[in-house]
Amino acid sequence: MAENKRENFGGRFAIIMAMAGSAIGLGNIWRFPYLAGEHGGAAFILVYILSSVFLSLPIFLSESIIGRRSKSNTYGAMKKLAPGTRWKWLSIITILAPLIIVSYYSVVGGWSIEYLVKSLTFGFNSVPKEEITSLFSEFISRPYAPILFHTIFLGTTAIILTAGVKSGIEKFSNWSVPVLFLLILAILLYSLTLPGAMGGVIYMAKPDFSKITSKVILAAMGQSFYSLSLGVGTILVYSSYVSKKENLLVSGLGTAAFDLMFALMAGFAVMTAVFSAGVTPGAGPGLIFESLPYVFATMGESAPVLSGIIATVFFVTILISALTSAVSLMEVGVAYLIEEMKMKRKWATFTTFIGTWTLGCFCSLSFGPLGGIQFFGKTIFGFCDWISSNFLMALGALLFSLFVGWKMKKSDVYDEFTNGGTLKVNVRCFKPVYFLIRYIAPIVILIIFLSGILL
Ligand code: PHE
Repeated sequence: MAENKRENFGGRFAIIMAMAGSAIGLGNIWRFPYLAGEHGGAAFILVYILSSVFLSLPIFLSESIIGRRSKSNTYGAMKKLAPGTRWKWLSIITILAPLIIVSYYSVVGGWSIEYLVKSLTFGFNSVPKEEITSLFSEFISRPYAPILFHTIFLGTTAIILTAGVKSGIEKFSNWSVPVLFLLILAILLYSLTLPGAMGGVIYMAKPDFSKITSKVILAAMGQSFYSLSLGVGTILVYSSYVSKKENLLVSGLGTAAFDLMFALMAGFAVMTAVFSAGVTPGAGPGLIFESLPYVFATMGESAPVLSGIIATVFFVTILISALTSAVSLMEVGVAYLIEEMKMKRKWATFTTFIGTWTLGCFCSLSFGPLGGIQFFGKTIFGFCDWISSNFLMALGALLFSLFVGWKMKKSDVYDEFTNGGTLKVNVRCFKPVYFLIRYIAPIVILIIFLSGILL
């Protein structure tokens, strides 16, 4: 596709909303609260912020620089910026990884639709509290219903994408990200009023530096990585829709700030509610789909209508945040098909949908009939999650930082980062940023990468 036909985001607000939409997702709502609580509360949060600034931000900027410089999808970008080399083949990783992630992410998105329906019909009030956990495992192991909801979730993602960058992605994130903040604020304010909420606040906020071990530091780095959607080309592709006038440093900082703010708000909201109901804070999707429904059922004993409303608001929040992330993941594949295979956006989206939907069905069925199929001791769902977030993501991030730090000409990187030397603050930041991209990021990623495989 000719370069002048590519769409651009409408401005700074749209760019930050789209990128924040990608960043804010399930990672903020279930992974962050659990990790923070388990790993020393405020001490973990401090490590998390430090790794966001010194590791994630440089990688974010690497992706932004490649994306905007090339105005291309991940494969096309390498083809343009390093013509005649093998770099473009390496970029295949960054097309596969987001598609694998979106396949299983959509299954979880589908669960949130099912739970939204349950909340709307005050379904948690009619289930005895003790049966809430088994309700979840019973639901996800069913063959048809979860696939139906996965289809609705992924189908909605695809519909947004067929509308294009401006009328689809931009329009959707421009309203949904502000709404997400309002929703999480409402939940946070409400959960702080619950009896026993202080327990959750202390769990999250009390700094316990004795819990900071090398494993915890790795967990904080990995989390800041995952949360900012790095290493899989989503930020690269979104940046390719950023106009040459915009400031890449500002969009990076803005996105990271919104993502952190949301994680903190979600963390406090979730943990205060969990503590108030006396539930042990569990890990993974279990926290959202088992512990919290238990909280809602507890609330429902005294205030059934209110509990139904809060549960609804909560699952709407999860659903929208997952959708904005899924849109960014799927766009990586769509952009590739449009630009490299010369497909129309509609067909590119449909093709990506079919592929990811199929893999998603296998992921969904791996909680039931296909549970026996295992790779390296993991179910299909577990394997897709593991290979993408522990392996491909780190590999992709390594690729991007090496590309900007060692393959691209330094003068080109400078030109892109500073808009031709016109942005004074960026000019001043260039040296340390370049150092982080060239030396620190690859070394640290390598450590995360090896520990992800070996631990
Ligand atoms: N950042 C998203 C979250 O926190 C997950 C994601 C990873 C989205 C990679 C896009 C790319 O849930």
